[in-house]
Amino acid sequence: MHNNIIQFDTIDSTNTYGLEHFENLGDRTVITALVQTKGRGRFNRIWISENRENIYLSIILKPQKIDHIQNLTQYMSVCCAKVIETYNVNAQIKYPNDVLIDNKKICGILCESFLKNNIIQGVVLGCGVNLNLSQSILDKIGRPATSLNLAAGKSIDREEFFNKLVNEFFNNYDEVIQNGFAYFKEDYILRNNFLGKNVYVQQRDNDIKENFLAQKMDDNGNLVVICNDGTEKTIFSGDIIL
Ligand code: BTN
Repeated sequence: MHNNIIQFDTIDSTNTYGLEHFENLGDRTVITALVQTKGRGRFNRIWISENRENIYLSIILKPQKIDHIQNLTQYMSVCCAKVIETYNVNAQIKYPNDVLIDNKKICGILCESFLKNNIIQGVVLGCGVNLNLSQSILDKIGRPATSLNLAAGKSIDREEFFNKLVNEFFNNYDEVIQNGFAYFKEDYILRNNFLGKNVYVQQRDNDIKENFLAQKMDDNGNLVVICNDGTEKTIFSGDIIL
């Protein structure tokens, strides 16, 4: 069992707490809450966090070597997919780090850096997993979403899933910090749902969607695509739409 866990009943957001208290929290502290009143997603989206039987956690990470810090979200998506598989449910990964079951999102990851004098001190790696949501709540999300209880056909013990996920993450964390994406590339590719397909790439800062063939992942965890004119291009940021 991981020995550095702070558990709240209710909090605004475990990521916000992690950023606000970053300097006083030890490396590898896990913050978790049963309810978040202001759960945040990527692109300023809201992450609905009312259900007490889901996972809302954030991990404080202050590695000495920060070369591969940008791959931690992809690593977390692999860890989450592997834990889902222990319930005999198949999980897919959509670039860069969404975890899906039957093309519907079950897990979201939000990684935020903590900077001091413009120098990165570490990250708060947040992860939310839908474990026990009803179809009627999922329908309200407005995007295709699912929950592990529906796929597994039984309710999911939150604490058991939490312990499995934290253990899975720290099992190979040091190796990932040392070696980066290459260390878990095979596990990521094994579960991908986008390579070899035509995808739209949506960049962070604007709404222009371009269409490409998703060709391969490089050793840094970036997506390499083929453009319509046959040239190759590396996508460094953005989401894909299948
Ligand atoms: C996404 O948009 O896909 C990312 C969602 C991340 C949600 C988690 S829940 C725990 C942590 N605290 C937050 O406020 N957000 C992350």
